[in-house]
Amino acid sequence: MNLDNNTILITGGTSGFGLELTKRFIALGNQVIITGRNQAKLDEVKKQIPQVHTIKNDVGNAASIIELYEKVTTQFPKLNFLINNAGEMRKMSLHDTSIGLDDINREIAINLSGPIRMVQQFLPHLKKQLNPAILNVSSGIAYVPSPYSPIYSASKAGLHFYTVSLRVQLQKTKIKVFELVAPAASTPLNDQFVNVDGFNPKLLATPEKIIDATIKGLKKDSYEIAPGFGRILRIMSRLAPKLILKEMSKVGANIYSQP
Ligand SMILES: NC(=O)c1ccc[n+]([C@@H]2O[C@H](COP(=O)([O-])OP(=O)(O)OC[C@H]3O[C@@H](n4cnc5c(N)ncnc54)[C@H](OP(=O)(O)O)[C@@H]3O)[C@@H](O)[C@H]2O)c1
Repeated sequence: MNLDNNTILITGGTSGFGLELTKRFIALGNQVIITGRNQAKLDEVKKQIPQVHTIKNDVGNAASIIELYEKVTTQFPKLNFLINNAGEMRKMSLHDTSIGLDDINREIAINLSGPIRMVQQFLPHLKKQLNPAILNVSSGIAYVPSPYSPIYSASKAGLHFYTVSLRVQLQKTKIKVFELVAPAASTPLNDQFVNVDGFNPKLLATPEKIIDATIKGLKKDSYEIAPGFGRILRIMSRLAPKLILKEMSKVGANIYSQP
């Protein structure tokens, strides 16, 4: 796809992949709008990158998505590229009885229901644009679960399947549907894992490297972009699923393995 002169909405643009995408797209001559729940983080990005437009918004909530749609399509009627990037990942023992039923599925609300609702809300608008596209940020963990983040893994597996179906359903439209099968990277999302038993921080890629590959993939219309370890997890899930699950299960096993 063309990577200049787009109007791009990136959910979760205040750190990690979202922030890196923002920098690249602005440098390439696009108009970029980012969201996030934390106003201070949005203000900080605006200070660093004055061209960016920021909107405080929670993608985990349906009413908030409708509000976002109204604001964005009024202020930026040429919006043609939706990037569903916002995400949360918690380490979690399913033996922990302090996690309430309202909270247990938080990653599903943000990482899976969020993109599904965003697409549903923005689709009629995107259909009318030139060079329309959607990029959903899934994960290598969509292919092999990370048992210490069980709800996150379920959300990303769901997002992968949803994205495949979306691409098929939109094949007679102009909308290009991309998926970034991202590997583990050194972003704030992984800060909580640094001292977890079995987690190897040396395996973390830099967000810059992942977004380099993403930009190349978008340019080439490569619909499933799977850089580095994301690709390895995808291959291993087919070639040696038990072996790779055993490896992934080592992270935090001393905490979640209980009789
Ligand atoms: N880093 C990795 O290892 C890795 C690997 C594979 C896939 N991914 C995926 O990549 C995406 C970006 O993650 P990252 O690593 O860049 O993490 P990050 O640095 O923690 O960034 C997450 C961004 O999402 C925003 N966000 C979180 N919940 C939100 C919500 N409910 N509504 C709106 N914005 C929200 C955060 O801002 P606020 O907290 O202020 O809302 C922040 O801007 C996520 O979907 C993640 O699952 C990451």
